Amino acid sequence: MGAKLNIEDFDDPSFDPFLEDALMFGDHLDPYAKIAEMRRQGSLHKGEYRTLMGLYADITKPADAQYYSVFGYDEVAQVLGDPATYGNHAYDYNIGISFGQSISTMDAPEHPRFRRIFQKAFLPQTVAAWGETLVDPVLRDLMSSFEGRGEADLVQEFTLHYPFHIIYRQLALPPEDAKIFHKLAIAQTVVSVDIEHGTEASRKLGDYFIKLVAERRANPGDDLVSSLALAEVDGEYLPENVLISFLRQLVNAAGDTTYRGTSVLLTGLLTNPEQLEAIRNDRSLIPQAIEEALRWDGPVLMQSRYARADAVLGGVNIPAGTFIDVVAGSANRDESKFPDPDAFNIFRKPQHRHFAFSFGPHVCIGQHLARVEMTRALTAILDGLPNLRLDPDKPAPQVRGTMMRVPHSIHVKFG
Ligand code: HEM
Repeated sequence: MGAKLNIEDFDDPSFDPFLEDALMFGDHLDPYAKIAEMRRQGSLHKGEYRTLMGLYADITKPADAQYYSVFGYDEVAQVLGDPATYGNHAYDYNIGISFGQSISTMDAPEHPRFRRIFQKAFLPQTVAAWGETLVDPVLRDLMSSFEGRGEADLVQEFTLHYPFHIIYRQLALPPEDAKIFHKLAIAQTVVSVDIEHGTEASRKLGDYFIKLVAERRANPGDDLVSSLALAEVDGEYLPENVLISFLRQLVNAAGDTTYRGTSVLLTGLLTNPEQLEAIRNDRSLIPQAIEEALRWDGPVLMQSRYARADAVLGGVNIPAGTFIDVVAGSANRDESKFPDPDAFNIFRKPQHRHFAFSFGPHVCIGQHLARVEMTRALTAILDGLPNLRLDPDKPAPQVRGTMMRVPHSIHVKFG
């Protein structure tokens, strides 16, 4: 490899995108009460989900944009499962501005053409093999800094970092630049309320990735950037904007969502100690605990779509061109599908799928990796932190957010 590439920090290096979480994603402790009230009033409501919930409107969307928000389980499934009627160009705005032309913005036939290539890197058997080689070393590194101490904040010292470091190692980026990359990766999603920092992050990541792809194409290694740089569609390399946009999306999506999902899983278990105890005694319960955490308080409450033609949904006429905010977080707590939906209950026997990873052609590409990561993280915590419990002298964890959910700390004691 040639001279070291330089990643540029924000012009104002003190800018901290993690502090914009509440501004960007809302600070609701319990948005589900309002969501349930709306769902009981009707499966569809006119208006943008953000403003219906009392947040700022998405400033990247056209000023005259028309919206419907979808709250009912069956209607959420219908929209996500019908890409011919409900397309993804809704993401030309918002993350389409910061990630660029990522697969999230594409409809068929473009979407399956490119998704096929990216998906190969995250097939179940591929990511299962990363468990020991990639995931466990990151977990061990992080845990070694606090496991002898008897207490920790599992969010600030652990969950916030581990998924980002896993994808970072998979891309084989310089360890000393990880902090800057993490900030830039996260800042891309502040674009809908803070265009300046969102686009600055996008530009700086883009400039870097363009040079990195050229370098790895010339001197490939066995990392993910090299294999994507050499991947071909119809005998040609991937178009530069598609590949760079995917890499921008990857450093964000892979780091941010799994951090949130793992933090919610730990919150659910630590605030229901009998369920934590059951898992301690029977590790085969881990997969169902992960699915329940994702259903109960999945990190991503809403997906965006766009009516490509006039449509009828839940008995309501939707004119072509309407933005559709698909409230997956509402469907996941629809009492007609999940009895006692607000309870975290790992022993639930669900009769219906949850939409935490969405559904249909855009279903999360990283879902298998996320499950491997969450399984290994919980296992490492159970093995390394005996007698784990909430710290009674510190505030209990509070999962917050209206668009994306996470607790900002989980204070625990162990040993
Ligand atoms: C618990 C963790 C995760 C959650 C809850 C989650 C959630 C989601 C959701 C809801 C979507 C679909 C959005 C839509 O339909 O518009 C999505 C798509 C996507 N996710 Fe994830 N994700 C997680 C982890 C990951 C990881 C680890 C990666 C990276 C490997 C990843 C990469 C992606 C990509 C590239 C897409 C776009 C897929 C497409 O449009 O075809 N995600 N994710």
